[in-house]
Amino acid sequence: MIYARIVGTGSYLPPRVVTNAELAARLDTNDTWIRERTGIAQRHIADPSQASSDLALRASKRALQAAGVAPDQIDLIIVATSTPDYVFPSTACLLQAKLGVKGSAAFDVQAVCSGFVYGLATADAFIKSGQYRNALVVGAEVFSRILDWNDRGTCVLFGDGAGAVVLAAGSQPGIHASRLHADGSHAGMLSVPGNVCGGAIVGSPFVQMNGQAVFKFAVKVLEESARETVAAAGMQLADIDWLIPHQANVRILDATARKLGLAPEKLVVTVDHHGNTSAASVPLALDELVQAGKIRPGHRLLLQGVGGGFTWGSSLVTL
Ligand code: ACO
Repeated sequence: MIYARIVGTGSYLPPRVVTNAELAARLDTNDTWIRERTGIAQRHIADPSQASSDLALRASKRALQAAGVAPDQIDLIIVATSTPDYVFPSTACLLQAKLGVKGSAAFDVQAVCSGFVYGLATADAFIKSGQYRNALVVGAEVFSRILDWNDRGTCVLFGDGAGAVVLAAGSQPGIHASRLHADGSHAGMLSVPGNVCGGAIVGSPFVQMNGQAVFKFAVKVLEESARETVAAAGMQLADIDWLIPHQANVRILDATARKLGLAPEKLVVTVDHHGNTSAASVPLALDELVQAGKIRPGHRLLLQGVGGGFTWGSSLVTL
């Protein structure tokens, strides 16, 4: 039996930090409201010169170095993003070129805030099938580009960044189980309902969201997905050492951990200093945990995504 195992992690945050106080200076909001409703204190915002592929490149180089894997050993590149550099080619192809390699498969996954978990599950399936041996899976976003900075209901929530993992084929799991879902009937709950047509933007190029509906939906499906994935792996919730849900809002994270009966110290929270970085949030949080030296061999992690589509899913992983 072939399994996929995470053999290296990396991440990158653009240096510019935007605090709640900075937003409050130009918007009708305040630090207390943002912290109490979301848990967010600050977010990183990319320089206009930086595209998703630039953030992805920095995170990927760190993950490859941590794994001891050279770029030309990678035979599959998946980039999860809702803020690609271009309509096409894919950000994954641009990343491949920036890594200075050619020939591997490379494509983007568009599942918004679930994108990284979708990408991880896809790479896992390819590796298990024997088709590829080494995969680079990246979540990279410049969500700041699709925010209306005059809309206090959305712009305070998000940030930019990238996280990456290298997966390698091995005889031990690795990724024990993944489960993915979508329900397109909820497309309108969270969307950027615009497109490029005839040289102009048709519709809106900015995030639109029904915050309360998103909140309720996210808590419900994160709980269901955790239980489903743990069962698929033949484990119990008590076997989980770290819960790494998509970092949308600290109240969503706390509610999920509480419903699952997981101790608060098992919940990984980075939304306070990263904001919601969409597809980048889970690999960013994972890498932060790794860099902090908190993960010991054999620890079991439940990685969870939920986002526009609506999409959701989980992967149960031993590092
Ligand atoms: N600062 C100050 N006041 C604000 C702000 C702000 N930034 N934003 C909204 N308000 C006001 C509203 O205008 C409203 O005022 P009113 O009562 O005078 O009409 C009041 O605050 C309450 O607004 P609600 O939308 O009812 O506030 P709520 O408690 O629902 O919190 C929030 C809003 C934080 C967006 C919450 O619904 C939420 O977190 N939802 C989840 C959304 C989310 O996480 N989205 C991320 C993308 S989805 C994903 O990643 C899964």
